[in-house]
Amino acid sequence: MSALKAPLVEANGARIPQIGMGTMTLKDEVCVQAVKDALAIGYRHIDTAAYYGNEREVGHGLRLSGVNRDEVFITTKIRPDAAMPDDFARVVDQCLENLKLPQVDLLLIHWPSKTVPIKLTVGALCKAKTEGKTRHIGVSNFTTALLDEAWAATTEPLVCNQIEVHPFINQDKVIAASRKRGMAVVAYVPIARGKVPGSEVLEKIGKAHGKSPAQVSLRYLVQLGLIPIPRTATPAHLKENLDVFDFVLSDGEMAALKRLNANNMRVVNPPHAPVWDTV
Ligand SMILES: NC(=O)c1ccc[n+]([C@@H]2O[C@H](COP(=O)([O-])OP(=O)(O)OC[C@H]3O[C@@H](n4cnc5c(N)ncnc54)[C@H](OP(=O)(O)O)[C@@H]3O)[C@@H](O)[C@H]2O)c1
Repeated sequence: MSALKAPLVEANGARIPQIGMGTMTLKDEVCVQAVKDALAIGYRHIDTAAYYGNEREVGHGLRLSGVNRDEVFITTKIRPDAAMPDDFARVVDQCLENLKLPQVDLLLIHWPSKTVPIKLTVGALCKAKTEGKTRHIGVSNFTTALLDEAWAATTEPLVCNQIEVHPFINQDKVIAASRKRGMAVVAYVPIARGKVPGSEVLEKIGKAHGKSPAQVSLRYLVQLGLIPIPRTATPAHLKENLDVFDFVLSDGEMAALKRLNANNMRVVNPPHAPVWDTV
């Protein structure tokens, strides 16, 4: 099979491949192999985090793949227990050491801290960029109000907000607020952590295009201009999840998928989550 390629999304100076590979829960050799497999079939965007405990394996998979470092967009994220500037800087250095890279492409604040003022963490994020430890910076799980705070504090452009998006949740407000700032929206849990297969609406639309429900969900997000980062270590699913650029959902199909937003099902809602935007 010739390598599949995702187009690039431009946002505040960054160019981000429109499908990324999620790696949460992938560990040890499974993670190394999945990253290597993904890069071999054309993925050029890998999403990891200090919290996932797999940066060593992501870096190892990257090196084993033989794909040039500068062709791959690598994101990592720093958790709120390192929201104070000194802790943040220490964890960034640890991430780079784990990945065995001098620099990542995108560094994110993984969750807003409930105790440390946003401006302190944003300051540390900007410093990581000016010191060359990352090419771009951004945030994750930021609400419209938190985006305002982050933009008031930052001295560098924030290129993305990584948030939960799939057909079963309404994220219109925060997507609009992110877009207004020129930020890309990276969609995590894009197949609702496995709940998409089995959905009657997605199955039916998929059949009409010869595609799976997972592919319909990813295509829906792509047509909204978002950047989904599905996670799998299953080679057939890896291929399937990148193969969403050869069909187009009609306006009617997009509207039917949009109607599923009314469920407003949030999959990721830990105790440290902020007060989410209301629909
Ligand atoms: N910023 C944040 O706070 C945050 C939070 C959560 C997640 N994330 C990021 O987003 C990524 C994706 O989220 P997620 O991993 O929680 O959920 P997800 O990608 O929505 O779902 C993963 C599940 O879907 C299954 N799957 C994947 N492709 C499939 C396909 N083509 N057909 C059928 N089933 C398929 C996988 O099973 P198989 O392994 O069997 O394929 C796995 O059980 C994470 O890995 C992480 O990188 C970020």
